[in-house]
Amino acid sequence: MTNQPTRRRTIRSFVRRASRVTNAQRRALDELWPKHGIDYTAHELDICQLFGRHAPIVLEIGFGNGELLVSLAAANPARNFIGIEVHEPGVGHCLLAIETARLTNVRLSRHDAIDVLRQQVPDAALSRINLFFSDPWPKKRHHKRRIVQPDFVALLVKKIEIGGLFHVATDWADYAEHINAIVLKNKAFTPVEENGPARPETKFELRGKRLGHEIWEQRYRRV
Ligand SMILES: C[S@@+](CC[C@H](N)C(=O)[O-])C[C@H]1O[C@@H](n2cnc3c(N)ncnc32)[C@H](O)[C@@H]1O
Repeated sequence: MTNQPTRRRTIRSFVRRASRVTNAQRRALDELWPKHGIDYTAHELDICQLFGRHAPIVLEIGFGNGELLVSLAAANPARNFIGIEVHEPGVGHCLLAIETARLTNVRLSRHDAIDVLRQQVPDAALSRINLFFSDPWPKKRHHKRRIVQPDFVALLVKKIEIGGLFHVATDWADYAEHINAIVLKNKAFTPVEENGPARPETKFELRGKRLGHEIWEQRYRRV
């Protein structure tokens, strides 16, 4: 047997699906991206310059079609929102919604959220991270692809300011147990109740409900 050098393969939490981008979404990706997009680089962002103001930042990982992101941004003009999604049609859809709602407090990234958090988001910069209905990867051999892993939680701890929130929801009971166990192992997060207006339902949440799945949702405070 020869001693071949082994290359570490990165396990991603997504597979790029070859879905159709509509003409309107393509136009949005071409024309609106320079206005609302954050290009990926391995350098830390100047968040204040990005938004042209200083305000608490809410970051959503895997925003899908972005409807929840846009409605939260419209309802909270005093906050800045960053959405990260790798699915191109979803990014195009969201850009169109941002433009229709004339929002100035949302920026999008279309790169792997792990790299964006590691390289571009400054430490303790976020007041909140939302992770709604992330891919549950139900087969046991795929569990390693689930985005919530101890290293991911440690990364969130670095990026959320003290007192900030990690808000997570899923419609997969087994993934809910996995998430809760991993987050609680990190003593920098403590579960909390939050009273406030109900968040809008997402596309994947509605799909889960149609399949008869129960929704599990939890907030953890960075202590
Ligand atoms: C099951 S969908 C849920 C979408 C949306 N949050 C909803 O509830 O309708 C999960 C999304 O997360 C995105 N995603 C998964 N891993 C990601 C990563 N590492 N970075 C950015 N997006 C990711 C996928 O492309 C997919 O669109």
